[in-house]
Amino acid sequence: MIPDSFKQDLLNRVDIVDVVSRYVQLKKGGANFQGLCPFHSEKTPSFSVSPVKQFYHCFGCGAHGNAIGFLMAYAGLGYVDAIKDLASGVGMQVPEERPRTKEEIARQEREPDLYAVMEKAMEFYRAELKKSPRAVEYLKGRGLTGEIAARFRIGYAPDGWQPLKEAFEKYEDKSLVECGLVIEGDEGKRYDRFRDRVMFPILSNRGSVIGFGGRVLGEGEPKYLNSPETQLFEKGRELYGLVQARDAIRVAGRVLVVEGYMDVVALAQFDVAYAVATLGTATTPVHVQKLLRLTDELVFSFDGDAAGRKAAWRALEVSLPLALDHKPIRFLFLPQGDDPDTYIRKHGKEGFEKLVREAPTLSEFLLAELRGQADLGSAEGRSRFLSAAKAHVQKVAAPALKLQLLKETAKLGGVTQDEVERLYEIRQAPSYRREAPPRRSFSPPSSTEWKLLASVASCPQIASEVDLSLLDMGLPESQALEELVGWCRESGPEVSVAMLIEQSRDSRHAELLAHALAWGEDLRESEEQARAALQLTLWSLEIKRKDREIKSLGDRLQKGQLSKEEHQQYARMVSEMQTLKRRLQDEGRGAR
Ligand code: UTP
Ligand code: MN
Repeated sequence: MIPDSFKQDLLNRVDIVDVVSRYVQLKKGGANFQGLCPFHSEKTPSFSVSPVKQFYHCFGCGAHGNAIGFLMAYAGLGYVDAIKDLASGVGMQVPEERPRTKEEIARQEREPDLYAVMEKAMEFYRAELKKSPRAVEYLKGRGLTGEIAARFRIGYAPDGWQPLKEAFEKYEDKSLVECGLVIEGDEGKRYDRFRDRVMFPILSNRGSVIGFGGRVLGEGEPKYLNSPETQLFEKGRELYGLVQARDAIRVAGRVLVVEGYMDVVALAQFDVAYAVATLGTATTPVHVQKLLRLTDELVFSFDGDAAGRKAAWRALEVSLPLALDHKPIRFLFLPQGDDPDTYIRKHGKEGFEKLVREAPTLSEFLLAELRGQADLGSAEGRSRFLSAAKAHVQKVAAPALKLQLLKETAKLGGVTQDEVERLYEIRQAPSYRREAPPRRSFSPPSSTEWKLLASVASCPQIASEVDLSLLDMGLPESQALEELVGWCRESGPEVSVAMLIEQSRDSRHAELLAHALAWGEDLRESEEQARAALQLTLWSLEIKRKDREIKSLGDRLQKGQLSKEEHQQYARMVSEMQTLKRRLQDEGRGAR
């Protein structure tokens, strides 16, 4: 566990405007910065970043969070990685939960080195490309422009055993082996992994070079040689071209996943810039999750041959549990003999995008494959179909999609939906998922407690003045407020909205709190205004409570059940109440 005090320190030191600006173009507008929301596609900016509150919020789609949340949602980093990323940017060291082993210390000290090594290798390969007419001819022959080659930082690894010796003074250094650039053979002989190949650098989310794919010029085996898995590079997590595609993905509201490096590059050249590629591996759940977080529509593209269909089926199986009701997944199949690269060269952007638009959806692809394997004209065939579909339908977590699949399966299988649900042992679709729930439009509760919650969220400095005993603790907003007040107390005078968001991450009321914090953003109150509003709200709560007490005493008075003391208490309360109401009226008028 990373201590809260560290997170608080970090969030105070980091500037969310810098963090977001790395990825989104922001313009100053009043106290805040505005830009196009990176979480949904839009033409006019509704994404706002508050330097004061260290908080971002989209008025369009409701996305919100602090700097840590932004890196998680946008760059797809894990929680700890996001914190580490921010910390390294402001020169802070994330405290370790356990003492590090020697190996880990050594590795961490090396890590930045490895990035530098990879960067240097890339620059070397790029320079070499310029010097090699043969490599340039090859790329030109494949129809690439210089501009697109530069955008993807394509290079060339010259022939010979140790071309990298020219770039690295210490060719013996073990970092070159650790990066996968140099291979250590028997008897300690070293030589370059990539020789006489066109080099495609693979970038991390943050734009650092973490690996390469190298293609032979023309024929040869293997056609592509890839970096091995290293400390920097884990194939199943990375996607080729993601950094270059990011803006286009946002604008298009869609991402296209293709099979090859060349496909990504060729598509980008034809202005289909929202494509990325897996790295010679099958699609993994990490890929799917990463991409669904980025955009609203995911299109897989496969070659129209048997290998392509097989790969598509694997992608489908990975996608079933991760699919979301509000984010369609499609499967595009190219005609036999084509890949995206060759297809777009023949048919252009229009022709290619037509295929994208018409690509079958996940459920269409699933059902088409399954019915292709069974003869629905016979009872046995339908049974076979129903039993084959079972495992797939069961895997789907998205409730509406699951329902649609059940209906379709029932229809094709010649049974009722009820029957298929019984057959599949599906009761009320339990939907447990780790995904963030789809964003719903939020309508705030109408309670006074909610107002209180929102004003404390907008101005945590006033938290200590909240009298929790006045709240109706049965309401979730009261419980959330109690938590919020607790955190404010723990954080002391350093308390910030960014830190409160951090603490609400694990709360039972996380969503409500996030909305309150975002809501507070709209209030734009000064601390003084917030204090005054808080006072009014507290008074009105007090009045409500006293009203209830007075009423119950009044009822008993009618029935002649009051003792002498209670009688006095009643009279006192009625008069107090009048004062309170008058004060509230005066203050209310003054505050306006
Ligand atoms: P393809 O053979 O379809 O390559 O492999 P491509 O992208 O169309 O290549 P060109 O057009 O002939 O240049 C698709 C992907 O599979 C991986 C690479 O990631 C490649 O981009 N692959 C392929 C390898 O890793 N090794 C290989 O030998 C072949
Ligand atoms: Mn190809």
